Amino acid sequence: MGRQRVLSGVQPTGNLHLGNYLGAIRNWVEIQSQYENFFCVVDLHAITVPHNPATLANDTYAIAALYLACGIDLQHSTIFVQSHVPAHCELTWLLNCITPLNWLTDMIQFKEKAVKQGENVGVGLLDYPVLMASDILLYQADKVPVGEDQKQHLELTRDIVNRFNHQFAKDESVLKLPEPLIRKEGARVMSLTDGTKKMSKSDPSDMSRINLLDSPEEINKKIKRCKTDPVRGLAFDDAERPECNNLLTLYMLLSGKTKEEVATECADMGWGQFKPLLAETTINALKPIQEKYQGVMDDKGYLESVLRSGREKAEAIANETLTQVKAAMGYALPL
Ligand code: TRP
Repeated sequence: MGRQRVLSGVQPTGNLHLGNYLGAIRNWVEIQSQYENFFCVVDLHAITVPHNPATLANDTYAIAALYLACGIDLQHSTIFVQSHVPAHCELTWLLNCITPLNWLTDMIQFKEKAVKQGENVGVGLLDYPVLMASDILLYQADKVPVGEDQKQHLELTRDIVNRFNHQFAKDESVLKLPEPLIRKEGARVMSLTDGTKKMSKSDPSDMSRINLLDSPEEINKKIKRCKTDPVRGLAFDDAERPECNNLLTLYMLLSGKTKEEVATECADMGWGQFKPLLAETTINALKPIQEKYQGVMDDKGYLESVLRSGREKAEAIANETLTQVKAAMGYALPL
């Protein structure tokens, strides 16, 4: 029996921040040895809202380099770029034709993003979830690590699988039904300027997040200015103190200490004592990632070779699934 397969991806839009790292990639790193993993840079998703052609390629390399810098290990995992495997687009077309329009117009993320785009909503934004379904289904993934905001997309993927198998594959199922891999509690990182909102790439203020590549000066400045409260003594899980909970959680995750240890250590602290401690811990935790990232980015030949062999491995599996899907749909396959 082979290991179960995991697939996940990150869009190359701007740099990764602590929320992406602590909420997603660090968990991938922790579980990777138990699975056969495919980690994709989803550059086709990145153009579903207006994008900058001048930075797309470099942002794509940057995400791949950050995967490596964060500890994705090529012994267990394959890193590749979505647009390098044409099967993603092709399966998307085939699945488009069996996906009811209202499944897509009802998606929460589509509705939220469409409002932001105003008059100029592209068809690609509507189709985003079908492309994501194709990412997952091409690799017959068993498990998909997703955060809360992506659960609906995984549900849609499952609906598409059931519909496809029902219509075209009565006897044997051609597409595998994927399961979400829900991460452990405590890894939801909130904004530095509002403890009730998720830390996000799309927040207009860079002060709201710590990017993995921020310099020590930037990290010091952001933590110094981040939102706190006037209460003395720091504690977890006080619903009235979302910022306090978030900053303690960050300290816990970045220091590697347990919740109990942090709760005891910080119980009598004021912000003036805690903030420099958090800043120093953050800087030290990010330093090895930043150094590794720089090393990889300085060796483009190495990064290209990683992505080339990633593409080869990914493509072999993706093409096999695509052929099965086309056969099930009745296509005359090329001989
Ligand atoms: N939509 C995901 C996000 O924004 C990114 C993504 C694209 C993805 N394809 C995927 C995640 C496949 C998991 C599996 O976070």
